[in-house]
Amino acid sequence: MVTRKDTVFSLPRGRIDEFQFDAQVADVFENMIQRSVPGYNLLLDMIGVLAGKYAQAGTNCYDLGCSLGASTLKLRQNIPSDCNVIGVDNSTAMVEKCRHNLQLDHSQASVKIIEKNVQDTVIENASVVVMNFTLQFIDNGDRRAVIKCIADGMTQGGALILSEKIKFEDPARQELMTELHHEFKKYHGYSDLEIAQKRASLEKVLIPKTIDQHIDWLKTAGFSSIEPCVSCLNFVSLLAIR
Ligand SMILES: C[S@@+](CC[C@H](N)C(=O)[O-])C[C@H]1O[C@@H](n2cnc3c(N)ncnc32)[C@H](O)[C@@H]1O
Repeated sequence: MVTRKDTVFSLPRGRIDEFQFDAQVADVFENMIQRSVPGYNLLLDMIGVLAGKYAQAGTNCYDLGCSLGASTLKLRQNIPSDCNVIGVDNSTAMVEKCRHNLQLDHSQASVKIIEKNVQDTVIENASVVVMNFTLQFIDNGDRRAVIKCIADGMTQGGALILSEKIKFEDPARQELMTELHHEFKKYHGYSDLEIAQKRASLEKVLIPKTIDQHIDWLKTAGFSSIEPCVSCLNFVSLLAIR
């Protein structure tokens, strides 16, 4: 992938609109996520490890909210060759670039990138499902049902890797994690203005929930074992086994 530096929020804006995964964001997304999500590279490696362990021959492996395909690639490169990889994203700009990125990879498992809302996607015969930082953009009232649809489409012993930005009930903890996350972004070269403008833009569309809330959704959907597999500040990935 060609990495371009993210400067989307670098100039002062008179009005802050809702964050969108449009062409401008898709162009710089790899750089944006690397500099914004602590632990992202470790998570990609862990997806490779977990795909290798949990993918079952002849099944489907889904990447829901696949963006440019970073985790789709990790799936494809670590599963049996007779598995099918299905990436889903509802952003046209992301899907176009993702298809291009996947064409450059010559792993054997078949891959299909679908432009679709995750909520309209049928999950079937799935041994591995990755949903990285995407549930958080779905209406809160619909999230439980999304998790249930995933669970219902999974094979026995299959693995869901669910990554989310999370919030903390305790205000002091929430404040500390938010501050440390901003320090992480500053460390990676974002200015105070960029951080503030992106935060204001995201706050309208990204609504984080607590880790306990996610565990409750997963348990009631029928997952048997739920463990954090990567965790850094207010970003957590849960490994849930069907
Ligand atoms: C933060 S990015 C995900 C990053 C990606 N999973 C990764 O690991 O690099 C969120 C993605 O989810 C997509 N998205 C958000 N809501 C969606 C929905 N309801 N259905 C499908 N895609 C969605 C966005 O277009 C965006 O590409």
